[in-house]
Amino acid sequence: MHNPALQACGIDAQYVRVQVPVGSVKEAFGLFVKQGFIGVNITIPHKFEALDAVDVVDQLAQQLGAVNTLAIRDGKMFGYNTDGPGFLRSVKEAFGAEIKDLRVLIIGAGGGAGRAVAVQSVLAGCRDLVLANRTASKLGPLVKELREATPWQARLQTCSLESHDLAEHLANVDLIVNATSVGMKAEDAPLLPAGSLESRHLVYDMVYRTTGPTDIIQQANFAGAKHADGMCLLLHQGAISFEHWFDQPAPLEAMRAGLLTAGDSRAA
Ligand SMILES: NC(=O)c1ccc[n+]([C@@H]2O[C@H](COP(=O)([O-])OP(=O)(O)OC[C@H]3O[C@@H](n4cnc5c(N)ncnc54)[C@H](OP(=O)(O)O)[C@@H]3O)[C@@H](O)[C@H]2O)c1
Repeated sequence: MHNPALQACGIDAQYVRVQVPVGSVKEAFGLFVKQGFIGVNITIPHKFEALDAVDVVDQLAQQLGAVNTLAIRDGKMFGYNTDGPGFLRSVKEAFGAEIKDLRVLIIGAGGGAGRAVAVQSVLAGCRDLVLANRTASKLGPLVKELREATPWQARLQTCSLESHDLAEHLANVDLIVNATSVGMKAEDAPLLPAGSLESRHLVYDMVYRTTGPTDIIQQANFAGAKHADGMCLLLHQGAISFEHWFDQPAPLEAMRAGLLTAGDSRAA
């Protein structure tokens, strides 16, 4: 997605993949600065280590607790998080809706991406949020943090992954976000009870895979519910990174076409 974007904007640069061992993020960033890199995207498992490796952490990245984008300006390293803002933009594009107007259920709220989506949602004015996670003990600290992050009082509830508990909350939410890694593999067990989605639901699966729709997307299709998958988030996150690096609007359609081509060639 980034190489077509660079090409579309006539920028003489290249986007490459670099593998960095855990514990070496700061050292790697130092080398990127020396080598004249403009920016970097950071993915699992380095997003937390990156927070301590940059010179300046953007306020939102601080609140979201992770850095996934690095911009290098005059030899100085600036850290950003595009998970949260990318989520807001992709919800708007996919459903024509603002998060502040929706009752939201986040499944996997205890993970890095789920936590970012939860914090971003309350910061964006969501007033009704249900947090679900396999490891229930991760939810208490998150609820406390969300209360501290927002001066207004959002209604925050927690939920287990038990079918009856999920079904009860699904009846009272608009947007359902899968922020777990369930669905990355075709053989993963279904996350939602069968038949629990309704046509009025908006279904957002952060997982993206090139081997066909995930179980949640299939269930949404079956129910006639609007849905979006992780490709949409990837696109908008990428666009926000591009804006941090080049201080100009991202060529969204060139990036979307690049993603689709990459997906097709990987699936082939
Ligand atoms: N589209 C995008 O651009 C984008 C961006 C970010 C992330 N993602 C996707 O979002 C997903 C989560 O990423 P992450 O960075 O948040 O990972 P993470 O920090 O490792 O969190 C994983 C989450 O999945 C839950 N989980 C794992 N296996 C499970 C299972 N069998 N049953 C129920 N819950 C399970 C974990 O629950 P526990 O707390 O109980 O372990 C945790 O909540 C991944 O699929 C990733 O690819 C997509």
